[in-house]
Amino acid sequence: MEKLIITGPTPLKGEVNINGAKNAAVAILPATLLINGVCTINNLPNISDVKISCEILEKLGAKITWVTPNEINIDTRNITTTKAPLDLTSKFRASYYIIGAMLGRKGEIEVGMPGGCKLGARPIDQHIKGFELLGANVTVEKGTINGKAKKLVGTNIYMDIVSVGATINIMLAAVLAEGTTIIDNAAKEPHIVDVANFLNTMGADIRGAGTDVIKINGVKELHGNSTYSVVPDQIEAGTFMLAAVATKGDLLIKNCITKHLDSITAKILEIGGNIEDYGDSIRVWCNKRPNKANIKTLPHPGFPTDLQPQMGVVLSLADGTSIINESIWESRFQYTEELNKMGAKITAQGKTAIFEGVPKLYGAPVYSTDLRAGAALIIAGTAAHGTTEVYNLEHIDRGYEHIEEKFRKIGAKIERVTE
Ligand code: EPU
Repeated sequence: MEKLIITGPTPLKGEVNINGAKNAAVAILPATLLINGVCTINNLPNISDVKISCEILEKLGAKITWVTPNEINIDTRNITTTKAPLDLTSKFRASYYIIGAMLGRKGEIEVGMPGGCKLGARPIDQHIKGFELLGANVTVEKGTINGKAKKLVGTNIYMDIVSVGATINIMLAAVLAEGTTIIDNAAKEPHIVDVANFLNTMGADIRGAGTDVIKINGVKELHGNSTYSVVPDQIEAGTFMLAAVATKGDLLIKNCITKHLDSITAKILEIGGNIEDYGDSIRVWCNKRPNKANIKTLPHPGFPTDLQPQMGVVLSLADGTSIINESIWESRFQYTEELNKMGAKITAQGKTAIFEGVPKLYGAPVYSTDLRAGAALIIAGTAAHGTTEVYNLEHIDRGYEHIEEKFRKIGAKIERVTE
């Protein structure tokens, strides 16, 4: 078993480079199934979710060549099966994108229910509703999803809730459908725009991604022969911004799109942090105890749920009492029990948590309960006095490339050891 040992407190200082976005990469990879050709994808984060996505594509018949740890050539001319390996697809959430992509490419798919972080119920009814409106028949039985479509035909789809996954999945299924699909009440996250940009580079006709109405004019085929670079990871950038504030540090966060970070920037200024925005990099520093603040997580451009635990660390150290309302996931406060072991005073009930700020956190053994909780515990360990041991690293490795190396480079005393 691996664990991280962190000795603090250390103010994080220096420069950090942001990788490509996990949640864009895990959608762009299955999107290559729609191409009858070869393409190159770079700025891929070197994380386990990307590696598993590639393994699934290979099992379906794609040929992948790793040019560097962050760049692949992928040849999807010869897709040999419509059965995705159940053991691999159950390992992470984004395996559901195989459904939209394979319905588009082959009109058929058999895949296991997706896995991923345990954040409460994670239904896929909106995905299925979209596929069925496009003309597919989808059944879910004994943990297996079967989809079949003789022909997909464009139509108007109104999403009952704003869903990142359903928006992208329906977009994938609609790209090669006959006629025009309109997705209304679509999600607007940067990775939705990125997947649309990727598909358009390969010959798709998608308009309006990034707004709440996306129009997809079906095309006959997508060509390869193009190179695409994955958008910088907004959540990784936000993680380091909040790490700078929590540790009273000073970080220049490079290779990001600062417009994607507006909701985080606004909160950091509200709690007394400092920001210099250079468009593709951002400096964040804080030399005092942060002020209290209230947060409500919302779909983009609201405050992202994927930064809620990292913000929770900051507010656990703030001057005064703060409230976080989690509006996306039922169960995203499991990390607060771990922070309480470190001296935080947090009371979480349902989708609300009250943070009575304490002046200091103290090192303790803690368990990451999901990906972003793990990142939050690393920040907490760096800000805390004494030694923190973080367990369950497999969650963190799913979404952050070389996280301990990045923290070490900016001053953290952190090492990974195998027990
Ligand atoms: N929902 C439904 N029905 C559906 C789909 C979603 O009721 O068919 C509900 C969910 O239960 C949730 C809300 O709608 O309450 C939003 O879910 P969404 O579909 O937007 O989430 P997702 O696509 O499953 C992605 C990210 C998550 C991130 C959310 C919200 C990927 C692979 N995952 O999940 O990322 O929290 O959007 O922004 O893109 C993470 O990276 O740590 C992570 C959990």
